[in-house]
Amino acid sequence: MAALVQPTGPAHTRILSIGAARGDVDVPNDDLVGAIDSSDEWIRQRTGIVQRRRASAEVRAIDLAVAAGEEAIERSGLDRSDIDGLIISTISNVAVTPSMASLAAFRLGISPAAAFDISAACAGYVYGVAQADALVRSGACRNVLVIGAEKLSELVDPTDRSISFLLGDGAGAVVVGPSDHTGIGPTVWGSDGEKWDTIRMTSTFEEYRSNPDAVAWPTLRQDGQTVFRWAVWEMAKVARQALAASGVEAGDLAAFIPHQANLRIIDEFAKQLKLPESVIVARDIEMQGNTSAASIPLAMHALREAHPELSGGLALTIGFGAGLVYGAQIVEIP
Ligand SMILES: CC(C)(COP(=O)(O)OP(=O)(O)OC[C@H]1O[C@@H](n2cnc3c(N)ncnc32)[C@H](O)[C@@H]1OP(=O)(O)O)[C@@H](O)C(=O)NCCC(=O)NCCS
Repeated sequence: MAALVQPTGPAHTRILSIGAARGDVDVPNDDLVGAIDSSDEWIRQRTGIVQRRRASAEVRAIDLAVAAGEEAIERSGLDRSDIDGLIISTISNVAVTPSMASLAAFRLGISPAAAFDISAACAGYVYGVAQADALVRSGACRNVLVIGAEKLSELVDPTDRSISFLLGDGAGAVVVGPSDHTGIGPTVWGSDGEKWDTIRMTSTFEEYRSNPDAVAWPTLRQDGQTVFRWAVWEMAKVARQALAASGVEAGDLAAFIPHQANLRIIDEFAKQLKLPESVIVARDIEMQGNTSAASIPLAMHALREAHPELSGGLALTIGFGAGLVYGAQIVEIP
């Protein structure tokens, strides 16, 4: 009997390029506070958010995904036919099926790339890069486009005080491909389903369908304090594990790019990790809000634009959120 062929890929990968697309409407705190009995001052103090960027009604998450993907592909210098994988991390697809990725691959001109969505909420970008890295190194794909794309303004109830005011719309994209050196460190990732409903929808579609008169259309809610404590204590440990697994120390980092959930969480991380002053900390949340799977690549894109000298430096990225799921990895900034 003939032996099956199993491919092998290159020894190393890195992020070749990055792209971003932000919601086209600036939404300041004052536009939202009336519906939640809050204030601009409260939101700034508790979250650091000054405004969030949201997309106009006619713009869908896939439009943001395609715009970010387009920039990442162009900047990679690759021929579109060399990108044979597309992973979109999103909780904003307008249909349960088909995937956003299949249509995006077509619109980006990279069909017949293997294309699929993943659902890992705010950890989704890190999960996507972990998979892209593994797919390229295994030889299953040559180059993989990873996109985090969200239109979270569609998922919120404007009268909800727990999460609605945090969220924005956008997409970030990276191309992961072969490298002559290690550009993506080991991913430290996991889940804690015991806290599954800490960030949740108000009802399932099944509950809504069976009783539409009594059950409201599902929107997003969270137990903010539980998430806050979990993020600050447990995620700092995960960040330290990612540093150790990669064999680098906080002082080796050029940048710290955590999921943009809350500026107080970001500042507490920086303190607990004892990041030296030299490490630039991403604070994209202030003007963009929390964009779940898009927040890390959006923040990386902004840092890269503001500080071109960061290119080639190491960044600690960490995503965490609904599930609860989390993932961290050290990457070379493209
Ligand atoms: C949501 C979050 C900002 C709330 O801040 P908090 O400091 O935990 O607020 P608390 O729930 O403890 O409430 C404190 C007070 O503010 C009030 N409050 C709660 N939400 C409010 C809002 N949106 N506006 C104004 N006041 C609010 C509460 O009623 C309470 O008032 P009281 O002291 O008179 O009882 C915070 O918990 C958070 O950011 N958590 C992280 C979660 C996250 O970012 N998740 C995204 C997915 S990763």
